[in-house]
Amino acid sequence: MNQRVLSGIQPTGSIHLGNYLGAIKNWVAFQKDHDSLFCIVNLHALTTGFGSPAQLREHVRLTAACYIACGIDPNTSAIFAQSQVTGHSELAWLLGCLTPLGWLNRMTQFKDKAGKHKEQASLGLYGYPVLMAADILLYKATHVPVGADQKQHLELARDIAGAFNAQVGKDYFPLPEPCIMGTSTRVMSLRDGTQKMSKSDPSEASRIHMTDDADTIAQKIRKAKTDSALIPATWDELEGRPEAQNLVQMLSTLENQTPQQILNTYAGQNFAPFKARLIEVLQETLNPISGKIHELMTQDQAFLETCLAQGAEKARTLATKHMHEIHGLIGL
Ligand code: ADP
Ligand code: TRP
Repeated sequence: MNQRVLSGIQPTGSIHLGNYLGAIKNWVAFQKDHDSLFCIVNLHALTTGFGSPAQLREHVRLTAACYIACGIDPNTSAIFAQSQVTGHSELAWLLGCLTPLGWLNRMTQFKDKAGKHKEQASLGLYGYPVLMAADILLYKATHVPVGADQKQHLELARDIAGAFNAQVGKDYFPLPEPCIMGTSTRVMSLRDGTQKMSKSDPSEASRIHMTDDADTIAQKIRKAKTDSALIPATWDELEGRPEAQNLVQMLSTLENQTPQQILNTYAGQNFAPFKARLIEVLQETLNPISGKIHELMTQDQAFLETCLAQGAEKARTLATKHMHEIHGLIGL
């Protein structure tokens, strides 16, 4: 079977190091030898409420600029906004009719996002994982590279694909493979090693944005929470030190080394020399990316619009063909 990759990020601001190391860096590797679609999931961004229309449009362009600056090639991969292909919301409805509430009730992200105010949470937030399943299945994607936090949603997407196939009596949808790869599948907040680095954390100091300049990176890493113990010689000795674990994993991914190789270099030292190297390697990695994002956003808005239009066209062609087949299978 033809292998196809699909993934997406919500246009809720500039992407951060967790999005890059956990997801986009792997997309860049996949696009070389896979048919690839990278979506900007603006419909998902509405699940926590509508905001300013101008800002949403701006965030779609910014996310496209981030994809391109991180190495996604708009000539070979389709970069597009989810809302530009109507099949996403239509298929979400059809799949929603096959999704038992019991399955949705298990989703931990809904519980986290809805918090104590479950009754006020929207149907959209509750159905978020069904729309995500539609994003993937609309293109019959086989591989979905994401961070570890999306594992449960991908298991649900597989269950939904299976339910559809059973219903129509045909293996129509491939069961999408979650691709959770590397040592940074869950990058943690710089302020609290037990919380995921996230765009929705109110503290800017909790994350490194791909648009941060060299000084900001240095400041955030110098202030990043650690503990007073020295860096140990083995990974096991980092047990119960989530902030230290997080920084070691971060440096190991950026240096293309194992966490143990990093510990071999810094064992017995305090965090000062370690942080100095982390700052240096982050600056080396991020400076060209932030420069490119800035250039695309200030001088090349027309180019971004063209990429998004071309990407949507390519995605739409595939989506239209599949929706036609799906209508036929259901009897619509
Ligand atoms: P956020 O949680 O910051 O709003 P998204 O939900 O838009 O980010 O996530 C987009 C992609 O980035 C997903 O594949 C997700 O798994 C990945 N991702 C998000 N945060 C992290 C993180 N802290 N570590 C690793 N991957 C992450
Ligand atoms: N739910 C994903 C997240 O919050 C974003 C997303 C939406 C996605 N649709 C997708 C990821 C399809 C992979 C495939 O991170």
